Amino acid sequence: MLKDPIRIAVLCSGGGTNLQALIDAKKAGVIKDGKLSLVISNKAGARALSRAAEAGIDAMCIPSAGTTTEAFEKKLCDVLDEYKIELIVLAGFLKVLSADFVRRYPDRIINVHPSLIPSFCGDGFYGLKVHEAALNYGVKVTGATVHFVNEITDGGKIILQKSVAVRKDETPESLQAHVMKNAEWIILPRATQLVCRMIKSEKNGKKIDISDIQ
Ligand code: GAR
Repeated sequence: MLKDPIRIAVLCSGGGTNLQALIDAKKAGVIKDGKLSLVISNKAGARALSRAAEAGIDAMCIPSAGTTTEAFEKKLCDVLDEYKIELIVLAGFLKVLSADFVRRYPDRIINVHPSLIPSFCGDGFYGLKVHEAALNYGVKVTGATVHFVNEITDGGKIILQKSVAVRKDETPESLQAHVMKNAEWIILPRATQLVCRMIKSEKNGKKIDISDIQ
């Protein structure tokens, strides 16, 4: 029976509140089967990087601006290999990864998206834009989704979802805050633990479906 925790890299682009939720969940014992080994931001100066440093996690910026996707992803792969990463968690990572990159890590990349997929998702739906679209449509319920990442933007298998009621007089900013606090920060750590369990089980020779351990 392999006991080593699954080595996780968290990819971020900005504030890193979802990263913080993962750090807090690790401390609280929610992520029993994983270790936050590395944080990568594609944006220099991202708050996510200082959150990682404060938590004693190795962190680095690999800039995606001013270079090709190919060159960016080559650097990313090299670092992920160097750290022997087994699970990639996209936590507010706002650059779409190429199909080639995604195919290298089947069922080994998960993403948190701030809506109930299949609503308000896909290319162009990220950050506040998702909440603007939900409010413009007039939905009464929204939420967040954690899913596996495949070649289709926000199209991979759903792991967990949580709904949030849309209040009266909500703004995109207030809705984003509610969805983060009441959905994203709860389901991202839980889904991370579930996938770590799944990977651990596979490493021990027993392939399991994520739906069977929820
Ligand atoms: C979060 O709401 C996350 O769900 C969203 O960006 C925000 C990042 O916040 N991600 C997407 O829209 C991906 N399509 P954070 O940096 O504070 O975690």
